[in-house]
Amino acid sequence: MAIYLSPSMLSIDFAKIGEQLAIIEQAGTPYIHLDVMDGVFVPNISFGIPVIKGIRKASNMVFDAHLMIVEPEKYVEEFRKAGADIINFHMEATEDPKKVIDLIHSTGAKAGITIKPNTPVEAVKPYLADLEMVLVMTVEPGFGGQKFMENQVPKICQLALWKEEMNLGYDIQVDGGITQDNVRIVLDAGANVIVAGSAVFGKEDIAKAAKDFFEIFKE
Ligand code: DX5
Ligand code: ZN
Repeated sequence: MAIYLSPSMLSIDFAKIGEQLAIIEQAGTPYIHLDVMDGVFVPNISFGIPVIKGIRKASNMVFDAHLMIVEPEKYVEEFRKAGADIINFHMEATEDPKKVIDLIHSTGAKAGITIKPNTPVEAVKPYLADLEMVLVMTVEPGFGGQKFMENQVPKICQLALWKEEMNLGYDIQVDGGITQDNVRIVLDAGANVIVAGSAVFGKEDIAKAAKDFFEIFKE
């Protein structure tokens, strides 16, 4: 399965959004990870629909939205209209994940479920056949630049095993504290979409930071 980098825009220089998106796109980055935070589901507020709509005009990358918001069903259509190609919502943010998945699919977007570190991976099992992506958090959601939680790796292994056993095609995305130094751990566990915020946009040379990941992906 192909491996993709999805740099998190949370760590971008917001005074240079267009410029920095163009740099990583030209470096060959396929996805951009868009962390939407509402100050309720997580104790932080980031950016939302108007920003995504604005950058959509400036980028052809796959827009990978990670909604850290309560009642995601209320906003799915708006995020899709703004340009999201993949919509990840949190398992913990809804009573009825199937309803949210169906709503996402009805807009033409791909659907992903995200699980926080304290949510067991079994919670997502009933929905796997309906999903294009499962997102395993390796930090508590809310902030960039936190330390990678290696104790979440068994969830990735389990998702990779289920994928094979059930012959499913979902992507396994990992998000939080990933660097060029620890990404091999999650790749070996079976992850194929790698989010990195500070390890890309936090670096002096962001094109090189992305390319360093591509080199590791080839190993
Ligand atoms: C955290 C976000 C992450 C974060 C990743 O809530 O979901 O996407 O921006 O940033 P790093 O890679 O710096 O941990
Ligand atoms: Zn994220």
